[in-house]
Amino acid sequence: MSKEVYTTHSIMNGRALSSTDTVEVFNPADNSLIAVVTEADERATEQALHYAEQCFNVLKGTAAKSRADILFRWYQLIMDNQARLAELVTLEQGKPTKESLAEVVYAAGYVKWFAQEAERAYGAVIPAHTPNHQITTVQQGVGVVVGITPWNFPLAMITRKVAPAYAAGCSFILKPSELTPLSAIELAKLALKAGFEEGAFQVLVTSKPHTLVAQLHSHPAVRKLTFTGSTAVGKLLLEHTARSVMRTSLELGGNAPFIVFGSADLEAALEGLMSAKFRNAGQTCIAANRIFLHSSIKAQFMNMLKARVQGLTIDGTHTADLGPLINEDAKQKALGWVSEAVNDGAVIAYQGSAMKGNFMSPVILENVRSDMVIYNAEVFAPVVSVIEFDEEEQVVAMANDVEAGLAAYMYSTDIAQLHRVSMELDFAMIGLNEGAISNPAAPFGGMKESGLGREGGMEGLHEYLEVKYLCQRIAK
Ligand code: SIN
Repeated sequence: MSKEVYTTHSIMNGRALSSTDTVEVFNPADNSLIAVVTEADERATEQALHYAEQCFNVLKGTAAKSRADILFRWYQLIMDNQARLAELVTLEQGKPTKESLAEVVYAAGYVKWFAQEAERAYGAVIPAHTPNHQITTVQQGVGVVVGITPWNFPLAMITRKVAPAYAAGCSFILKPSELTPLSAIELAKLALKAGFEEGAFQVLVTSKPHTLVAQLHSHPAVRKLTFTGSTAVGKLLLEHTARSVMRTSLELGGNAPFIVFGSADLEAALEGLMSAKFRNAGQTCIAANRIFLHSSIKAQFMNMLKARVQGLTIDGTHTADLGPLINEDAKQKALGWVSEAVNDGAVIAYQGSAMKGNFMSPVILENVRSDMVIYNAEVFAPVVSVIEFDEEEQVVAMANDVEAGLAAYMYSTDIAQLHRVSMELDFAMIGLNEGAISNPAAPFGGMKESGLGREGGMEGLHEYLEVKYLCQRIAK
């Protein structure tokens, strides 16, 4: 791909949207301008809504089998274009190429999964209350869907919404993060090539998200909003969608505990932590945030962790372990939390040298307490906060004592303990002796303030379906 700044377009009804207003896209590795994208204004958004509504009426008349076939073609095209898509992800998001390639496969996995699920939107025949009735249910697409996606996984957070929506027969208007719109546009082009109807997947890029989102979710044709992002924004969106009682799925912030019990295989726990903490330089909702170490293994584990973290390579090359954070604000926020924690009594067990630009060296903090901001915040950065514990009950109470309920991890060789603690943790996804839990076949989502609904798995399709109950009198 050339290093020239290039122009690309929002996608409306299968075509490039022309506009004199543009959004600039920057490379987080050096803050250079990569591309300008045409911006969707109010008029374009109104038109996109009209096309989406028309398309929903067309999709209603299509067979699940034909939507499945189109999704399979989209999957294949994504896989055929892995290198190019990964290059775009690295360019606009900053993650090293090996992680971008992994994201392409992960994103494609959702498309394949929902191509298979498209034909499983079963209804039911229910034993009737009299011999003269037949009671059945059918499932139908909810209507036009609006999706708002974040910058940390510019492909996967999109496919896990668009693929089930299309499988269910819904048309989709996407507002991708203005920081990473290029991958979204590429995905939409491939979807069109695969056979998506023109209004089935439109991508509206804007630097004024509030205006666009308000317009989108106040339109009567829009029957579902799906959002991945911060809890604060999720709550605001929920207030808005409440006004029209719109179906709403929210995948919000996490604050994952990572518990290492005394019996744990420490090598395995370290591997798991490296993956759960440092994937995407710590910028994931399911990142291990609070590391609880049993007092009997703490000293040994800390030594292992420091040695491993010291060896991480951090730069903008394709083979680095960690790329840059998304921008300067993200870095300053994380460094601010670290300073505040140290002022409040935390101890720096390890900190690499200061780095230029958006790159940030990992930090390991000990003696972190639950009254510190860093304990309660979703730290989207390579910061490891360590807390020591003695008793199982104590660690469960500490792990649960936050507003988030997305992911949790624990390491133990005591099977009864793994089961017991899983039942006690108020988190919707739990890694048991496993630090990499993301999988298109599994329901991804959160409890408590981490969200509503699930993405992926068999649950993922139902988020886009309405159940209709038919009561038929079959005899007098
Ligand atoms: C997220 O950070 O929201 C998603 C991470 C994942 O799907 O693995």
